[in-house]
Amino acid sequence: MTQEELFKKLIAHCKEYGFIFPSSEIYDGLGAVYDYGQNGVELKNNIKSYWWDSMVKLHENIVGLDAAIFMHPRVWEASGHVGAFNDPLIDNKDSKKRYRADVLIEDWLAKQDEKIEKEVEKARKRFKESFNEEQYLATSPRVLEIREKRDAVHSRFAEALNNNDLVELRQIILDCEIVCPISGTRNWTDVRQFNLMFSTQMGSTADGANTVYLRPETAQGIFVNFLNVQKTGRMKLPFGIAQIGKAFRNEIVARQFIFRMREFEQMEMQFFVQPGTEMEWWKRWKETRMAWHRALGFGDDNYRFHDHDKLAHYANAATDIEFNFPFGFKEVEGIHSRTDFDLGRHQEFSGKKIQYFDAERGESYVPYVVETSIGVDRMFLQIMSAAYTEEKLENGEERVVLRIPAQLAPTKVAIMPLVKKDGLPEVARQIIDDLKFDYNVAYDEKDSIGKRYRRQDAVGTPFCVTVDHQTLEDGTVTVRHRDSMQQERVKVEALRSMVDEAVSFRNLFKKMQA
Ligand code: GAP
Repeated sequence: MTQEELFKKLIAHCKEYGFIFPSSEIYDGLGAVYDYGQNGVELKNNIKSYWWDSMVKLHENIVGLDAAIFMHPRVWEASGHVGAFNDPLIDNKDSKKRYRADVLIEDWLAKQDEKIEKEVEKARKRFKESFNEEQYLATSPRVLEIREKRDAVHSRFAEALNNNDLVELRQIILDCEIVCPISGTRNWTDVRQFNLMFSTQMGSTADGANTVYLRPETAQGIFVNFLNVQKTGRMKLPFGIAQIGKAFRNEIVARQFIFRMREFEQMEMQFFVQPGTEMEWWKRWKETRMAWHRALGFGDDNYRFHDHDKLAHYANAATDIEFNFPFGFKEVEGIHSRTDFDLGRHQEFSGKKIQYFDAERGESYVPYVVETSIGVDRMFLQIMSAAYTEEKLENGEERVVLRIPAQLAPTKVAIMPLVKKDGLPEVARQIIDDLKFDYNVAYDEKDSIGKRYRRQDAVGTPFCVTVDHQTLEDGTVTVRHRDSMQQERVKVEALRSMVDEAVSFRNLFKKMQA
């Protein structure tokens, strides 16, 4: 199965099992907007808790915030979004399809890396044990040729982005002979800038309505509340403010399911530090955030850092954590050193002094900021991509199983009476009544046990508990584990601690700190 086929199956699975539905589907949907179904919302909430607890519970000096989506329009002038929150877009005249010019070039660069990898694999097969990868990469004429061309394009690209040189971006597309994936032609328009913010009107027109924006990032809600939180919480530098909330961007090219949406959710933390210490904190947060991802156990090789070629208008350093999605390594999270840009600009635009009095230094200054910013939806897609598995079993049957980490699984336990009689459903209900105070528990009495296992595998439930006639005699149940499919006999009273051990965030946090 190709990665493309796998991704299509994953999307279908998300819909079939109540994880994600297209928005307003009965009206044929709305581009790049999605709804989360009964299982999706549980997984999403668990992702948010994993993030929130890792920030607010694990750090004495990080507190939370929930700012409004609407903000004073001047906020977005101060932040630079009105003037500079743009994507460079280009149209293909034959297919009439619109693309992000920077993404077309990034994809071309990624293809060159893939070509090099293929050359290495071919050589590995040819030379077998005697193969020396390092030496091959340094000497193979074919690899050197590809790399030289790639590096030259890469530096032109970085320069064009930094200079906002739209003519050069188009020229790179032409020089690299990039074709439209639909029409297959190189008949491109000029590259133009496109502002990504959605706007609407607040107040009636008769009163003189104000244009307000749907926030394109949650971060600004934190910056404008810096003084409120610092003063009321008596916070001392370094300290952080964490927030989870919706953000909106009028993405030109919304592709790859929930990877790029027009309405999405962010989990952002702004960490305020003394000027001059920001690089040290930026490095620390890079490591902390990578450890948060890796603790989920999807394989360290599936993550990498990617430093930005073009720094945003507010940053002096920026990196992405990328995950190996079915469509390649792509950004899940950004870690940005935002300097004093935001607080400084809000100070200037609002006319209010936004500074911190450092008692140790005996001076006031505008703090510097290190930001960690991750999309909930992208994290969701990361988990689903890594968890979706099709397996052939020893008995020849097939199963689809979502290997979602137990801590994040929508339902933790499914309780199943073997038959719908002999008092077994009643015992099953008693077990549920006890466990439901702590966990999401499902009850299933329909069809054969095998079919019931498959249903729970497909939504990622880590434990299936069967109540049978032996339960009535000795108070034990059969616990069947999702990933290994191993079964064991367990006392009913031992269920709680068994589930607790598996679903508590404790183990993930310990791994993070190891
Ligand atoms: N405050 C900084 C900021 O917003 P960003 O790199 O533009 O930085 C941060 O966005 C994260 O938000 C991304 O790494 C991604 O996970 C998520 N994100 C951004 N745009 C998105 C979109 N259109 N759909 C889904 N997630 C998105």
